[in-house]
Order: sequence, then C-alpha cells, then structure tokens
Amino acid sequence: MKSFCLLAAAALLASCGGSGSSSSDSGSSASLASNGPKPPSQFGLCMSCHSSEKGAPNRIGPNLAGVIGRKAGTAPGFAYSDAMKGSGIVWNEDQIARFIVNPSAMVPGTKMMIHGPRDPAAQKAITSYLAQISQ
Ligand code: HEC
Repeated sequence: MKSFCLLAAAALLASCGGSGSSSSDSGSSASLASNGPKPPSQFGLCMSCHSSEKGAPNRIGPNLAGVIGRKAGTAPGFAYSDAMKGSGIVWNEDQIARFIVNPSAMVPGTKMMIHGPRDPAAQKAITSYLAQISQ
C-alpha cells in the first residue's frame, strides 16, 4: 500500500491523501490509474495540461474527471477565464469535440490555446474516454 503511494506520488498525490476511494481492495497497485479506464493515446496531448483521475489536482487546465454533464468553468479551485465561466456551456461529447479543434472559435477569450485533432475518430476516442470518467 505504501509503495503504491510512493510510486504514484508524483501524479496522484491527492488520491493518496486518504479521502479518496476507500475501497479495501488495492490489489491493482501496479496500475497508475487508481480506478477507472486507461486514457487512450489520443488523450496524451490533453494530459500535458489536464489531469483526469478523480480528485487529482488541476494543472495548467482543470481536472477533467466528471466534465461531461458539468457546467463549463466550474471545476473546484481552478482559475478559469471569464470567457469560459460566462460561456453557459454544459459539456457533452459533441461540444467537446468541437471545442478542442479550435477552442477560441467556440469560446472567444478562452485560455485554452491548442488545436486538437480534426480526425473524428481521434475526437471520439477522447470524448468517449471523458464520458467514461464522468459517470
Ligand atoms: C496547453 C494546455 C492545454 C492543453 C494541451 C489542453 N487544454 Fe483543455 N484547457 C486548458 C485551459 C487553460 C483550460 C481553461 C480554459 C479557460 O478557462 O478559458 C482548459 C479547459 C478545457 C475544458 C473545459 C473544462 C471546464 O471545466 O469547463 C475542456 C473540456 C478541455 N479543456 C478539454 C481538453 C481536451 C480534450 C484536450 C486534449 C485534446 C485539452 N483540453 C488540451 C489547457 C489545455
């Protein structure tokens, strides 16, 4: 158990703090994701700014666990742009696919400055992963 926390400390400090999922079976200590699905390779780009494990700290961007169905700009403790907070979006898969291709076209003034994949299959891999971690 201890070694799990040491191994994963860099990425998962928060989830080792005790309050996380207190399920007694910590058998899968080898896997980095404490629970839930493994991110697809297409999510690698997003991971440079976003954590996706439940309860993991915000990075340059907000934690994305639970993002589907969440109102834009409401992850606790993250300093969003006014543009994002005022966007009125409630995220679903289609909107996220549209957002990542050209974030500032959808939310003018957003702080997210990337151009994500245009390939619909790559978008789908990302958004269905986000849907899985939002249940
Ligand atoms: C260079 C850093 C960076 C990368 C790479 C990045 N993001 Fe972001 N993302 C941000 C920032 C910063 C915000 C907050 C934007 C704001 O406040 O305007 C954000 C916000 C978001 C939001 C809105 C979240 C909310 O709580 O309202 C979603 C959804 C999102 N990003 C998805 C993605 C996906 C999917 C990818 C990968 C394709 C990705 N991001 C890649 C920095 C990044």
